Amino acid sequence: MALFDKCREFARLIQGLKERREFFYLREFDPAASSVVSMGARELIMLGSNNYLGLATHPRVVEATRQAVAEYGTGACSSRVLTGTTSLHARLERRLAEFKGTEDAVVFSTGFMTMMGTISAIAGKGDLVLSDEFNHASIVEGCRLAGADVVVYRHNDMTDLEERLAKCAPERDKLIVTDGVFSMKGTIADLPRIRALATEYEAAVMVDDAHGTGALGATGRGTLEHFGMEGEVDLICGTFSKSLGTTGGFTGSTLDVVTFLKLQSRPFIFSASPPPSSMATVLACLDVMRDEPELFERLRTKSEFVKKGLAEMGFRLEPTVTPIVPILIGDDSTVFRMAGELEDEGVVVNPVVPPAVPPGSSLIRVSVMASLSDEELGRALTKFGIVGRRLGII
Ligand SMILES: Cc1ncc(COP(=O)(O)O)c(C=O)c1O
Repeated sequence: MALFDKCREFARLIQGLKERREFFYLREFDPAASSVVSMGARELIMLGSNNYLGLATHPRVVEATRQAVAEYGTGACSSRVLTGTTSLHARLERRLAEFKGTEDAVVFSTGFMTMMGTISAIAGKGDLVLSDEFNHASIVEGCRLAGADVVVYRHNDMTDLEERLAKCAPERDKLIVTDGVFSMKGTIADLPRIRALATEYEAAVMVDDAHGTGALGATGRGTLEHFGMEGEVDLICGTFSKSLGTTGGFTGSTLDVVTFLKLQSRPFIFSASPPPSSMATVLACLDVMRDEPELFERLRTKSEFVKKGLAEMGFRLEPTVTPIVPILIGDDSTVFRMAGELEDEGVVVNPVVPPAVPPGSSLIRVSVMASLSDEELGRALTKFGIVGRRLGII
């Protein structure tokens, strides 16, 4: 049988990558989202987590989660639609709607299912989805599942988007979908222009604010708050797996749209409810964000410290105001060497190579957490200097 031949071939490929030290996936970190993590017997500074506000290890969040497990058990063991909705799920949905300035919100089991389940329920055959070429895979899969016609526009290129909108038959229903913050380079979508074009060409707008939520805006409400545009898009989505301490995701919209999603979105209906304790985690994260607004300033100060330190050493950075710090390297083998040598020096980063970025623009993705101490960041920067000089990058 040839069915598994590709797996054997793939295993050989992976073995080769490991031998050349070009495989940085599925590494084990304990705990994964802490400032300092263990990798076997070694301790490393974590600059590869999306736990931007550091809330996954915040004592108040951990305690709220522990209490919810004691009270609700470990899982709801049913679809949300049947017996898997607890008062914590409902409370969180109301809270997220308030947080994002929408009439209502729906919580999905993962961020991936949120995007997939939202697009596929809202868009269908005959509709047109206009999607940024660098949108997350969950959006791509959502478009595929929707069966709608998909037009991919050049990354954050508003001239291209407008040209494509202008070519659409006016009577067709159109949905423009974009990430709020693009995860690899921290680029922020041009939402004011997207909003204006959507109005002109009568299209709906969906924003996947997975990386913006918690990381952007004066109170962490995300990319829409950053632009002063809260309540100005039709669907605002996010995930709990970055700044909100756990897994799961949400879509905020009107009451009618949210009710429709809850009863028509197949990834919502035919998958089990996320654990009640995860709802308690997110509720506690939102409480901490409300009660400790200095967290946002801390995240910004620490991100700027890292960007300034790297730039002064001579690293080439993609400009961004997010906690994502992309160090532009270019070729894949230098990126892998840099990630490996940083790991040896005690710093975890993510190497980013095609297809995640276009060929020739491979990069090291550093992500900053508010929970990293100045001493840890200073130590990490020293290691970047050592490795950068050794590899002739700076
Ligand atoms: C932009 C974006 N959308 C959606 C997702 C999916 O979210 P999750 O990993 O929480 O399922 C991610 C996470 O990788 C993401 O970066």
